[in-house]
Amino acid sequence: MAKQDRQKNPAADEARGVQGSGKTVPSEETSPYVSLRPKSLKEYIGQTRVVETLAIAIEAALKRKEPPDHILFHAPPGLGKTTLAHIIAEEMGVSMTVTSGPALDKGGDLLGILTHLEEGDILFIDEMHRLPRVVEEFLYPAMEDFAVDFIFDKGVHARSHRYRLEHFVLVGATTRAGLLSAPLRERFGIFRTLDFYSEEELVRIAKRSAALLNITIDEDGAYEIARRSRGTPRIVNRLLKRVRDFAQVRGAGIANRETAREALALEGVDEKGLTVLDRKFLKAIIQFYKGGPVGIEAIAATLYEESDTLVDVVEPYLLKIGFLTRTSSGRKVAEEGYRHFGLSMQQGLFKSTDL
Ligand SMILES: Nc1ncnc2c1ncn2[C@@H]1O[C@H](COP(=O)(O)OP(=O)(O)O)[C@@H](O)[C@H]1O
Ligand SMILES: [Mg+2]
Repeated sequence: MAKQDRQKNPAADEARGVQGSGKTVPSEETSPYVSLRPKSLKEYIGQTRVVETLAIAIEAALKRKEPPDHILFHAPPGLGKTTLAHIIAEEMGVSMTVTSGPALDKGGDLLGILTHLEEGDILFIDEMHRLPRVVEEFLYPAMEDFAVDFIFDKGVHARSHRYRLEHFVLVGATTRAGLLSAPLRERFGIFRTLDFYSEEELVRIAKRSAALLNITIDEDGAYEIARRSRGTPRIVNRLLKRVRDFAQVRGAGIANRETAREALALEGVDEKGLTVLDRKFLKAIIQFYKGGPVGIEAIAATLYEESDTLVDVVEPYLLKIGFLTRTSSGRKVAEEGYRHFGLSMQQGLFKSTDL
């Protein structure tokens, strides 16, 4: 098992992350700013079943003095995947190297990283679904046998060298589990999907973050932010900061219902927490496709947006709150979605000036 003291050297860890790939995913909240990331499972709010699974896996691994299984997290952006990876490293007392699918172009990139991992160390790969196929195949034996065969040169000069690796732990994160190949998914011993957070959990997160940022917030203010955060902790934190700005400039410095409402209206966040893009997405389906069903590529073209953004960021929450349905023939706006705009499914369309 790796030594406890190595985790106290973030600069070194960061350097290790760059190894081989030349790029790392920067952790979003690094010093000198206040980190809002919970540092332990105890501090992590919500996702109780996932937390329990991890607590058991970590305790068992520590007792047996051997690393836990590889772990995969699946969830829309901002629900706490990266945070959990950091927490696992912290609780296991090991170092973590951070990279992401698109940063790894070649097997060689990964080889550099893997050969530098020590027993028990964590390799965190974000955006697993964007891992190039060659790199993915390179990863199979690494995950299963802790060995990799690397082929140098091509044709008659080709030579292969087998590298033995330390028993590392792969923690993967993805917004699109469906895009992972079955062989890759099956190599993770623990695979968990994080769900959107409840309003009550989001209130707790808002209060916790407010305390860390030294923001005075009252119950109504926390509630107002929570219910407009699309079930997502990262959005709670973002809106909280906008409310703080607003409260300091236009209010008495307190994040209460009043300042929260006005600040969020300014942000284009509506009563349900929908953003401008969420509303444009729904309106486009209603206006141009008679409410659907319509394929995602057609909607993306209509909105001049990447279909990946719509699938990763916009759709999950609209599906969750029942504004949208997904059928085999495409996306459809549900009755609830119509009602959000004061329309009904039978009723007329928007005037083009509304769009
Ligand atoms: N369970 C949680 N409790 C409190 N704060 C959280 C929780 N999950 C996420 N956060 C906050 O939300 C931010 C985004 O989480 P992150 O782990 O980066 O999401 P993801 O990797 O899934 O996109 C974190 O920086 C953290 O401050
Ligand atoms: Mg992340």
